[in-house]
Amino acid sequence: MADILVLHGPNLNLLGRREPQHYGHDTLAAIDQRLAALAAAHGHRLRSLQSNAEHELVEAVQRAGEDGTAFIVINPAAYTHSSIALRDAFAAVGLPFIEVHLSNIHAREPFRRRSYLADLACGVISGLGPKGYELAVLAAIDHLAQRTPDRGARRGHS
Ligand code: DQA
Repeated sequence: MADILVLHGPNLNLLGRREPQHYGHDTLAAIDQRLAALAAAHGHRLRSLQSNAEHELVEAVQRAGEDGTAFIVINPAAYTHSSIALRDAFAAVGLPFIEVHLSNIHAREPFRRRSYLADLACGVISGLGPKGYELAVLAAIDHLAQRTPDRGARRGHS
């Protein structure tokens, strides 16, 4: 059992009614519920947090570094393209993370192509809609299974 944290950046609380041509019709609550169920089905715990405030996301990453969180999935939203503070938090804490975007940031305005986080991430998923979060959680679970085989399996009692 591991703890996975999902972080959503600014304006993602508006999902469902925000520019559906880019972000689809699912609400954030519906996405978070599916992610928690997916993690639970694999024996993991998943918590989600959305914030419109950069410092709250930075603090959430810092806390994750101390509270036993094993993996972070983050859609940094607009902070992807601007936040050196968020980048520095991930660099400081050193937790593995995957960056997710609902839309394809490479097929939109040029300023969205730059990410301050991407080179620190295990991987980036962009343009697959809410499915991208699910794929990221599955990749996180896979990553955790490879890093921390459960004790029974290590002793040969799998
Ligand atoms: C986004 C893409 C960002 O450029 C934008 O600022 C967002 C959402 C996405 O999920 O596609 O708020 O991260």
